[in-house]
Amino acid sequence: MDLGIDLGTANTVVSDYRRGILFDQPSVMVVRRSGSRRERVLAVGQDAADLLGRAPMSQFAAVRPLEDGVVTDLETTRLYLRAVLREAGRRVMSPVRAVIGVPAGSSPLEHRALLEAAAEAGIRPVTALDESIAGAVGCGLDPLERRVHLVVDVGGGTAEAVAFCFGGILTHRTIKLAGDEMTVAVLRYLRVEHQLHVGELEAEALKIRAASNGHGPLVVQGRDAATGRARLATVQSAEVAEAVRPISEEIVRTLAACLDDLPPQAIADVLAEGVLVFGGASRIHGLAEDLERGLGLPVKLAEQPLTCVADGAARALRNHRLLAAYGRR
Ligand SMILES: Nc1ncnc2c1ncn2[C@@H]1O[C@H](COP(=O)(O)OP(=O)(O)OP(=O)(O)O)[C@@H](O)[C@H]1O
Ligand SMILES: [Mg+2]
Repeated sequence: MDLGIDLGTANTVVSDYRRGILFDQPSVMVVRRSGSRRERVLAVGQDAADLLGRAPMSQFAAVRPLEDGVVTDLETTRLYLRAVLREAGRRVMSPVRAVIGVPAGSSPLEHRALLEAAAEAGIRPVTALDESIAGAVGCGLDPLERRVHLVVDVGGGTAEAVAFCFGGILTHRTIKLAGDEMTVAVLRYLRVEHQLHVGELEAEALKIRAASNGHGPLVVQGRDAATGRARLATVQSAEVAEAVRPISEEIVRTLAACLDDLPPQAIADVLAEGVLVFGGASRIHGLAEDLERGLGLPVKLAEQPLTCVADGAARALRNHRLLAAYGRR
């Protein structure tokens, strides 16, 4: 199998060069910790996420393989990748080689850790590629051409802007502030303004519904802050937009600074072509407009904001010139 893997803070996507998306689920697994300290994976992805809200978690532990886009623990990542591969390739038993996306802001040590975990999980050979490059390829851009491209990825744990051309990264900015912080902002807003406690899953669902709902009212269920009883509240989409606004403004401010590093001709290229934007949180209401204003450049939203990195990584696997230029081993 020739796989492109986007191991994100929030979601893991695995794309096969020929078959397309094989796995697209939350980046979480539930493990049982036994006496010997060897962990056993009980559920991965959506199954694990579903368990979290239901099962008593005393004997189990929910484990996220990444924090803010980087590997925190080699053994955990190896276990996780193995479980994901098992799910992705249930019917096919063939050798696996892959390209894995890494954030531009990750250190050589961090991406070495990821490559090592992947090799130990049975993926050989494995190459790391900047997620921005992979996403660009997934959206049909050619990172080897002489023209400068600027892409922005707003994911769960991190937001990045990366400019590149002709096989090299020109500049990048990273901020560890993205969709997950927006969820927390919604959760806090409901507590303060509506005296309602909700879980992170409900807050995230509300955030996503508001993003696609324009300005209408939405109903959310939670617990009353005073009585602890379950109750419903009506929230306007505009309120949710207002709650996440400070976060998207901060993201835009940080990412826009990358323009300072670019020569005028590079900016002219991006002006002509537009800034490519992807990542789940790029869909938040108002973010594209804020970006357009902050950068002073036209913005183009990717058609597949959540899967273009994995798709592009799978395609990059067969593009030797591209991997020679941008790949990190
Ligand atoms: N339609 C939507 N509107 C707003 N936010 C969304 C939407 N869809 C997904 N999100 C948010 O996007 C984030 C996940 O995006 P994505 O899958 O690109 O992140 P990731 O790649 O896992 O994380 P990272 O790149 O930071 O490691 C989550 O915070 C999720 O709530
Ligand atoms: Mg991502």
